[in-house]
Amino acid sequence: MARILLTGGAGFIGSHTAVVLLERGYDVVLLDNFSNAARDVPERLRRITGMTVPLIEADIRDETAMAAALAAFPVDAVIHFAAKKAVGESEADPLLYYDANIVGTVRLLSAMRRASVGRIVFSSSATVYGEPDRCPIAEDAALRAANVYGRTKLVMEGMITDLVRTGVMDAAAVLRYFNPVGAHPSGLIGEEPRSEPANLMPYLCQVAERKRPHLNVFGADYKTRDGSGVRDFIHVMDLAEAHEAALRRVLARDGDFAVNLGTGVGYSVLEMVAAFEATTGVKVPYKIAPRRAGDIAECYADPSLAADLLGWRAGRGVEDMCRDAWRWQSRAALTNGE
Ligand code: NAD
Ligand code: WQD
Repeated sequence: MARILLTGGAGFIGSHTAVVLLERGYDVVLLDNFSNAARDVPERLRRITGMTVPLIEADIRDETAMAAALAAFPVDAVIHFAAKKAVGESEADPLLYYDANIVGTVRLLSAMRRASVGRIVFSSSATVYGEPDRCPIAEDAALRAANVYGRTKLVMEGMITDLVRTGVMDAAAVLRYFNPVGAHPSGLIGEEPRSEPANLMPYLCQVAERKRPHLNVFGADYKTRDGSGVRDFIHVMDLAEAHEAALRRVLARDGDFAVNLGTGVGYSVLEMVAAFEATTGVKVPYKIAPRRAGDIAECYADPSLAADLLGWRAGRGVEDMCRDAWRWQSRAALTNGE
């Protein structure tokens, strides 16, 4: 079976993808610098899967370390999750993002070339579409990232597809995630924001946990069903399964493709609050707050290309997302002795 290196493999989406790959028989190697992940993730993966996963502690910007990793563990492909991902932080410190994301990816790709690893699956984001002309968003929509983080994703997408086009690499999948939420149903792994969460679901869960007094609903005057923002929330386990489908294609065929990974259905912020309360029985106090700078009214995917190319569709609903996010959040609180 193929051996796959997961950069950022101890992070939120990487760790869930590791579970799916291990359960489907792949050899998995994790690489992470633990800048945004807990050190016991490999141990938690062992508890879920019964398998011990090799872990390399390294920074993708360290090309020597990356080359050493690929020499120690020859792999058939890389799934490249490692990145910085906070939009606000990227606007506050653009050079940090150019370095971590763009320079880091250049170094990774150079090390891959030296090791003759020519196949990659890349974590991109719906943020590359900026404010879309219409929803659902198809892959041929205009690409116009509106912030530094989004621009780094566009640059990295371009670098990777250039390398395939010019024959430096064999195959690449560019996966544009919409809004990943939820957690593994075991409650053993999930999203672990290090500081005040910027994203809706982690913040909502911390309000439910009574760690924060209320949720600020950023804007109730958008032209949407109920005035609050609409997004395409996708369960992280659906996303993890999509990576395996993309990987299968990348291992089997040369060439590159970019696909949206979403459900195709938008839910509003207020609908997510209601779904969370209905699923978990826990009240989530909220206040209507001003719009957040840079936000758009609605954003949801046309997921049909992923279905055609990969034979993959998201199957889990908002109840699964809320239930699993809450199981993870309440269990993590217990473990931390909070
Ligand atoms: P995450 O922060 O949980 O995971 C990223 C992992 O990469 C972390 O474990 C972190 O420690 C590691 N890392 C960061 N910089 C590194 C470096 N220089 N060297 C080595 N390791 C490094 O984030 P996530 O939500 O799992 O996101 C994974 C990928 O998906 C990222 O590329 C992100 O931009 C992209 N993405 C995420 C979302 C989302 O909402 N979560 C949406 C779209 C795209
Ligand atoms: C969703 C909705 C907010 C927090 C971001 C990135 C994107 C991608 C996913 C990485 C919006 C509202 C939020 C809160 C709220 N990340 N909200 N109160 O902005 O769609 O996408 O994360 O690639 O690039 O931009 O996600 O979860 O921050 O917000 O009302 O406390 O929830 O206004 O309508 P977003 P989000």
